[in-house]
Amino acid sequence: MSRPELIAPPEIYYGDTEAKKYTNNTRIQQIQAEMTYRALELLNLPPDEPAFLLDIGCGSGLSGEILDEEGYLWAGVDIAPSMLEVALEREVEGDLFLHDIGQGFGFRPGSFDGAISISVLQWLLNAETSHPTSSPPHRLNRFFTTLHAALRNPARAVLQFYPTSDDQVQLITQIAQRAGFGGGVVVDYPNSKKARKVFLVLYVGDGGAAQVPRGLENEEPNEAEGRVKFEKRREREKRREKSGKTKVRDRDWILKKKDLYRRRGKEDVPHDSKYTGRKRKAVF
Ligand SMILES: C[S@@+](CC[C@H](N)C(=O)[O-])C[C@H]1O[C@@H](n2cnc3c(N)ncnc32)[C@H](O)[C@@H]1O
Repeated sequence: MSRPELIAPPEIYYGDTEAKKYTNNTRIQQIQAEMTYRALELLNLPPDEPAFLLDIGCGSGLSGEILDEEGYLWAGVDIAPSMLEVALEREVEGDLFLHDIGQGFGFRPGSFDGAISISVLQWLLNAETSHPTSSPPHRLNRFFTTLHAALRNPARAVLQFYPTSDDQVQLITQIAQRAGFGGGVVVDYPNSKKARKVFLVLYVGDGGAAQVPRGLENEEPNEAEGRVKFEKRREREKRREKSGKTKVRDRDWILKKKDLYRRRGKEDVPHDSKYTGRKRKAVF
């Protein structure tokens, strides 16, 4: 079967029907969740500290909902309106932006503590886009240069993608390094056709001197374990939907989020009170 990025530009390929089909496919949900957990592991953020992350090509929020679950604040960028619409319907917590990453980012310098991107970068390797822009190297250059600026120093970006050749991996790595990033490629399960995953692990600042982590090897990921974790999440979600309850965040999570907003200078953050984190009764 042909790869999606060879069929049509992303905003056309992920139209209303495909966006729903993609999001509701439990196998896809599971794979995207596993890769997001791995990306977070490679991001290696300090534990118990609030962090504001960028989800590049966030789509319908399958990667973003893991960020929610892990207590991160995040913003997501995607080119496909239908994918973002599904993300809104699913009430993900991140702020969503409709944007072509090949045009580069316009975020304030140092806005993010880290970035992830799950299954997106291969789209930038294709010249075929409905946008009147230039070649893949130009688009990649704009992407990496502005991503570098949008990250704090030090910080990491972890980008999982599906290259079709070593040349593609080399091209992407070179352009990222020219944009100022340190780091390189991590390949998990390199000898498995099914489980092989490529992650570009990029460092801004001090981290550049650090060695790129080793990829996972030999043993295949424990599918049964992954499935159990995933099924438990789904059960929780179903119960929540049935009972008509929306997500209720715990007090610590809300306090962390408010604290981060205040430190970022956001005005009108509500005061902490004894009700913070408690479900309010609806008043009609
Ligand atoms: C396979 S989906 C992955 C979505 C999400 N990260 C996940 O894990 O489910 C790839 C996403 O990349 C987005 N994408 C592709 N090219 C893009 C571009 N140039 N700018 C922004 N988003 C892009 C697509 O619209 C699509 O939502």
